[in-house]
Amino acid sequence: MPTQFLRLFSFLLAVLFFLTPAVSLADPSQRLVQMLDYIGVDYPPTVVNSEVVNEVEYAEMQEFSGMLGAMIQAMPEAADKSALFEVAIQIHGGIQQRIEGEQVAMLAQQLKEDLIATYQISVGPKKAPNLSGVQALYESECSSCHGVLGYGDGPIASVQEIPPSDFHDMTRQYTRSIFDLYNTISLGVDGTPMKAFNQLSDEQRWALAISVSRFSGKHEQRETGKLLWQKGYLRDYFKSLSNLTGMSYAKAEELGDDANVDGKAILAYLRSEPSILDVSDHAALDNSIAMLAVSLEHARAGDHKAAYKAALSAYLDGFELAEPSLVIIDKPLKLKVEKEMIAFREFSKSGNVEQLERVQVGLVDLLNESKNVIGSTQMSPAGAFTGSFIILLREGVEAILVLAAIMTALIKTGRREAMKYIHAGWVSAVVLGVVTWWVAENVISVSGASREVTEGAAALFAALILIYVGFWLHSASNSKQWKKFIEHKIDNAMENSTLWVLATVSFVAVYREMFETVLFYQAMWIQIDSGDSQQGFLLGVLAALALLLVLAFLVMRVGTRLPIKQFFQINAVLLFLLAVVFTGQGIAAFQEAGVIASSMIEFPRVEMLGIYPTIQSLGLQLFVLLLGAGLLSYQRKKS
Ligand code: HEC
Repeated sequence: MPTQFLRLFSFLLAVLFFLTPAVSLADPSQRLVQMLDYIGVDYPPTVVNSEVVNEVEYAEMQEFSGMLGAMIQAMPEAADKSALFEVAIQIHGGIQQRIEGEQVAMLAQQLKEDLIATYQISVGPKKAPNLSGVQALYESECSSCHGVLGYGDGPIASVQEIPPSDFHDMTRQYTRSIFDLYNTISLGVDGTPMKAFNQLSDEQRWALAISVSRFSGKHEQRETGKLLWQKGYLRDYFKSLSNLTGMSYAKAEELGDDANVDGKAILAYLRSEPSILDVSDHAALDNSIAMLAVSLEHARAGDHKAAYKAALSAYLDGFELAEPSLVIIDKPLKLKVEKEMIAFREFSKSGNVEQLERVQVGLVDLLNESKNVIGSTQMSPAGAFTGSFIILLREGVEAILVLAAIMTALIKTGRREAMKYIHAGWVSAVVLGVVTWWVAENVISVSGASREVTEGAAALFAALILIYVGFWLHSASNSKQWKKFIEHKIDNAMENSTLWVLATVSFVAVYREMFETVLFYQAMWIQIDSGDSQQGFLLGVLAALALLLVLAFLVMRVGTRLPIKQFFQINAVLLFLLAVVFTGQGIAAFQEAGVIASSMIEFPRVEMLGIYPTIQSLGLQLFVLLLGAGLLSYQRKKS
């Protein structure tokens, strides 16, 4: 039946809608960066004194550099896009005229760095990859060409028309960062036996890149680097894992003011111990503190836009990453930081430097306090129990209310057979929630901002559907209408579309809570180290599930006992109120992502009810409230 397919199709479309903000797969910028990298490394040896040494390579360089311009044109608009384009043209022109290799390499490097800065391309993994299995992986997948020790002399190397890279060859490795190697492993090199290893996980590819990058380091160098690092040198240049993965020996050599400090040695050491720079909660909070200072600097210089951007990053790339750990230990502290962060963002935008300085001082204290709190606690069994219990209860209550209200409506109208639509909705939400989380953990990196945007969009979409369903239930309370509704056959087209709406509501209400719950649970699990605490954690989950079931049971019981007309009216009001709650939560998520401005006012803050003290969220909630009241009284008049 084609309409059935259509329904299924639109349902899947709705599902996809929720996944899209999270799934922004490998973008063209990655190709572009790889291309520049390739030109920078491969052009210099092809032309010596304006003479072409290797015709084949030279032709390839001409071809590749000719594509740069169009690739940049295809990138999203940005302030300095035309400047980037100019450099691309310059590189191509230079190669046509066979200028010195060094010059092309410099331009390519420059353009690459500018692209990374302009488009905020991520040059590092989300967390330090697990390196335990990487040796075996290298031996099974790579050593046949590159050799067990990375000299490019594996058993099948000699039969390749293009020789596999020797990872010890410093003329080539000098300018390569781990990120460059990762790019090659992920995308391959067209026209060579080096294929894209995209069947390996993201983590495995990072692990291989790190492992391969070590071949070019020497043992003595690492020892020297270790001593220097322990004395505290160059710490400012290596604050996070992506500082390490984006760094080449060429760049490391120029770091710092002290010519006696060997940046290359420190780089070699850190490549052997990347977990030192893992983005732990502490590192995230440190990053927040650093970005606040950057923001303040921009504000003092009068650049509000840059100040705001840094303020946003102080939240999303710093505090927000540590938030799940903090909230389960000290929620009031988390709320305090969040409130001050919002104030800081607002002042950074308005350019009120004096206020900004005041807020910054307080915030740095709060962030340091957060570091102490997070660092000191391992979770007790009782703490683990309450933590997991409260999280699930908090995230689950609204979803359970929605499901219970709708299921009762079906029971009361003798439509039990339609229950399967509701179950299909929430079951697929649970499954998809876990899949989304897994994808975000292992396949692609999801920034704090796009996570908030996904959450915000889901909440607002849920609010919209709830208004619709509330309205529909209320109109069914008109006795003539609902008699018609009951008498309708199940395969009636009208009826069917209603059922699909119900399935979607049940999906959306549960899906939007899944991501957050899993995230919090993950943060908790890391802080649990004893078997007793693990038990406490699991018991907490079960207890919360049981309580949610009881709640659903009670709602359904009270609901089925109410006279039908009253039931539909109360149900409609309940759904409208939930829509108001979702609206507030949706707007708050968008505000956290910086998509919507937030103007603070004096007003209580009750996250669970979606009440946040900002004009934007409260305004829209008032609108939804009035809309609900208006629709209800309109219905009442009509009947
Ligand atoms: C069939 C042979 C073959 C296999 C297997 C192979 N490679 Fe390669 N690899 C090559 C060749 C050939 C090149 C040089 C391409 C070029 O000319 O740019 C290369 C280049 C590279 C580079 C770029 C080095 C540089 O400095 O430009 C990296 C990194 C790399 N390979 C990593 C790996 C890893 C990791 C594996 C295993 C997962 C692997 N390769 C498996 C043939 C192979």
